[in-house]
Amino acid sequence: EKGGYDHFMLKEIFEQPRSIRDTLRGRLLPDEGIISMSGVKEYGAKFENASRILFVACGTSWHAGLVAEYMFEEFARIPVEVEYASEFRYRNPIITEDDVVIAISQSGETADTLAAIELAKKKGATIFGICNVVGSSIARASHAGAYTHAGPEIGVASTKAFTAQVAVLALIALEIGRRKGALTESRFRSLISELDQIPKKVEQMLESEDMTVSIAEMYKDVSNFLYLGRGYNFPVALEGALKLKEISYIHAEGYPAAEMKHGPIALIDENMPVVVIATKNGQYEKVVSNIQEIKARNGKIIAVVNEGDETIREMADHVIEIPDTDEAFTPLITTIPLQLLSYHIAVMRGCNVDQPRNLAKSVTVE
Ligand code: F6R
Repeated sequence: EKGGYDHFMLKEIFEQPRSIRDTLRGRLLPDEGIISMSGVKEYGAKFENASRILFVACGTSWHAGLVAEYMFEEFARIPVEVEYASEFRYRNPIITEDDVVIAISQSGETADTLAAIELAKKKGATIFGICNVVGSSIARASHAGAYTHAGPEIGVASTKAFTAQVAVLALIALEIGRRKGALTESRFRSLISELDQIPKKVEQMLESEDMTVSIAEMYKDVSNFLYLGRGYNFPVALEGALKLKEISYIHAEGYPAAEMKHGPIALIDENMPVVVIATKNGQYEKVVSNIQEIKARNGKIIAVVNEGDETIREMADHVIEIPDTDEAFTPLITTIPLQLLSYHIAVMRGCNVDQPRNLAKSVTVE
């Protein structure tokens, strides 16, 4: 049942080229230059005229919402807020009929997320559900939705469900952007053909597993890890830290890289590994300075960079290279080595990776 893998988590990590492809299949049609999604079509006008899009979710699904915030603002030019379902539901939030609320949930059963959409529905918002489990409570409570087609996720730590969520959110953001005219036809077409290449690039990324094994060997006994990223890769830093803490029980924190000097830099010494997602984008130079600041304090740098990045190679202790893609889609690729790193560290520490202590696959109580 584990398909020859030692754990479901590893199997699910390696399934990602397929699960992302399944999520895009029949929806992303690069040859025709279109995206076809029935739920989005049906509620197209609601999306186009939305004054705001609110994402509600918990945990890893909330991180997918953060990636979507960058995508929806860039591609569709709609203001976005990303809410922890648990906070949103208890603070008498301001919701109008012009709001579209997108709930993101692998299980479709998370109590806080379900309660958040029930509340928003009562206030007249349009509810769009992005769930992996077909027929789940959140899917049923939504006006419309789009399933992720990741297949059953057994490992408690979410891996392939996360990348499938990001993939489906990318499709929706691109389609709304096209409908609104926020994306030119040529930019839309180039983005969809790039998105179509992602499963292949994820496959390529999985080939660098050995690198994550050797990094895991060096750092498996530390007590703390820091993860930094900017822009589209800030949520990836949060997700990398969550994945490490939940399965290896090493304390880890993710931060937007620029926040480092507002506090976390005090933690840096020769015992602190810092995973920096430093792919080429608008803020690249700034991330390079962050790396220099960490090195000046003897921190250890594990950098995730674009292929052929010599600048960071000279500064970092370890480098993991990713294939080039559009900045917006980098989270689908940069997440992969961080999943593998957490997995290998947890296995080396003798942890039960598929069933970490104190955690449940679906959190149906608040
Ligand atoms: C992390 C993890 C949890 C879930 C969270 C939301 O690996 O699995 O943080 O992401 O409990 O669950 P869903 O997506 O089922 O609503």
